Formats: sequence, C-alpha cells, structure tokens
Amino acid sequence: MEQQTITQRKQRVFSAIQPSGVPTLGNYLGAIRNFVAMQEEFECVYSTANLHAITVRQEPAKLRAASHELYAWLLASGLDLEKCIFFHQSMVYAHAELAWVLNCNTQFGELSRMTQFKDKSAKHADNINAGLFTYPALMAADILLYQANFVPIGDDQKQHLELTRDVAERFNNIYGKTFTIPEPYIPKTAARVMNLQDPAQKMSKSDPNQRSFILLTDTPEQIIKKFRSAVTDSDSEVRYAPEKAGIKNLIEIYAACTGKAIPAIEAEFEGKGYGDFKTAVGEAVAALLKPIQEKQKELIADKKYLEECAKANAEKAVRIAKRTMEKVYKKVGLLRF
Ligand code: TYM
Repeated sequence: MEQQTITQRKQRVFSAIQPSGVPTLGNYLGAIRNFVAMQEEFECVYSTANLHAITVRQEPAKLRAASHELYAWLLASGLDLEKCIFFHQSMVYAHAELAWVLNCNTQFGELSRMTQFKDKSAKHADNINAGLFTYPALMAADILLYQANFVPIGDDQKQHLELTRDVAERFNNIYGKTFTIPEPYIPKTAARVMNLQDPAQKMSKSDPNQRSFILLTDTPEQIIKKFRSAVTDSDSEVRYAPEKAGIKNLIEIYAACTGKAIPAIEAEFEGKGYGDFKTAVGEAVAALLKPIQEKQKELIADKKYLEECAKANAEKAVRIAKRTMEKVYKKVGLLRF
C-alpha cells in the first residue's frame, strides 16, 4: 500500500499579558515561563494585551513605553521569534472585531459573576467603564481568533478561560462548529504567587505597598530585602501547609526558581530559622532574574527593532485571524468589505 503522509498542524497556544507597568514575579512564574517552554512543542501565538490595559485609565506615552518594554521582557525571557508569533494586540484589528461578535453572545449575568470585574470596579470606583465589564469577551476573542488548544495562564485567569469555553460552546451550538474549545495550562507550582505582605492576596503590581511584590526590574538587594520582610507566621518550621500561607508561598517560589521538590526544600531547611530560608528564596529569585534583566536592558535600547519585530509578527497573526473572521462573519450573516 502506498504510504500516506499526513501533515498535521501542531496544536496551537495563545496567551497575552497586559503592558500595565513592569511585569511581576507572579507574571513570570505563573505565565511567562510557560510561554517560553511551550514554544518548543506547540505553534505559539502571543501578544501584549494593550487593548485590555485601557480598561483602566492609562497615560498614552506610558502605555506606549510599557508596551515596548514588555515586548523586550518577553524576548529577554526566551521567546524566540523563529519559534513563535509575538505582536501587540492593537496591531491586529480582528481582536476588537471578534470581541464585538462575542459580546453579542455573552450574557450580562455571566460577566457580572467575574471576580476580576468585582475587584477592579472596587479599586477604580471612579471609572467603572463598559470595557472593564466586557473585558472577558475581548479575552475570549484573543484566544478563539487563533483556534488555540491551550492557554498558559496563572490561576487568577482561570475563570475568564472558563467563560471563554462557555461562549465558544454556545457559539458553536448556535452557528455550527466554528471555534476550537481551549484548555487552560496552569503551572503546578506558583500558579498563584501571593502578596509578600498579605499572603491571602495574590501578588499584584497595583498594590500600594511596594514591598508586597517583586518587579522584574528589582535589584538583587531590593529582592532580598523584600523577601526578608515577607510576612510569615510565629512558628519557625519551614513546612508546606495550608495554615502557613506565607511560608507556603515562599516554598512555592523557591521550588519554581530552583526546580527542587517541596519535600527536598523542607529537608534542606530543617532546623534552620525563617531568616535563612527567606534569604535563600531572595537569592534564588535574584539569580533567576539576573540574566533576563541584562538581556532586557540590551533589547530595550533598540525600540525601532522591537517595533519592526512586532509589526512583522502582527502580519503573520493577521493571516491566521483572517481565516477565523471570514468563517465567523459568514456564519453570523455579516457582509464583508
Ligand atoms: P495579566 O496581564 O494580569 O497577567 C499576565 C499573566 O500573569 C499571570 N499572573 C499571575 N500568575 C501567578 N501569580 C500571580 N500573582 C499572577 N499575577 C498575574 C496571569 O494569570 C496571566 O496569565 N486578561 C489577562 C491578559 C490576557 C490574556 C488574554 C491571557 C488578555 N487576553 C488571552 C490569556 C489569553 C491578564 O490581565 O493577565
């Protein structure tokens, strides 16, 4: 029998990250690291989520600068433009176009249940805009536009991913199979890096307390100092337990940065105090970030190059996005120019 060659498309990955300031250690361990790891095995499409960023008031010049900086952070972390597609969300109009169609297929009640909307509207009570409310429909559009199979995210974005799946399934039921149903890809350790001053909250750069988060720009001294002042408990045992939220968070960070298993970490620090452990965590984080910081500094010096890369990659993204949009408009009955 003649041998058949079956050319199968690799499974696709999509994810994005907001250029709303310098990324945190949470962004890095929860998401960016997996963006990099997944490019080896999958066809990966990534973008900055600058359209998402304007759901909160942004200064235009700062947003532009933060977008270039974020682009450089991701390249410095190991995104390889030979292996993935990486662009700025605003460069590909189809994100906003599909978001509109999905908005018309997303229920008010579903959006009202989103915890991020509740948190952000409490934080920005003077600007509870419609975009903040419909944000998950734009996020669904980002993912569904590329027919992504997997979406690397931290634990805090899981609810949005579940909504994306619901909206995609609903759309497929009404209009016929159009979208691939995506799966979340959440790391086993450090899926939710917690606030260093309040381990009940997730680490977030919008926290007013600078000591509560680690930014990718922090110096080794700042990093070690922040870890040394991290809130723990009155015990002195380095043990992974739910009631020891501060220590549990530090163990997860240490595990994620060193690749060591949790029982091995408990054994390593047996009989030692929290002081030694906190310093070790700070040193491990500083060592992990050092080469990325050096590379990012080099890359950000050439904004023109970064913008050219983003534009060339946006062109590649447009080609994929166009196929989905043609299908969607046809199914919905919308005329195309
Ligand atoms: P954003 O920009 O807030 O965060 C980017 C990624 O970092 C993860 N992350 C964390 N992971 C662990 N611990 C933390 N403390 C922590 N903080 C943030 C987030 O889970 C996320 O994966 N809506 C998204 C951006 C987005 C997107 C998308 C993601 C827009 N479109 C499509 C996936 C697919 C957001 O605001 O992430």
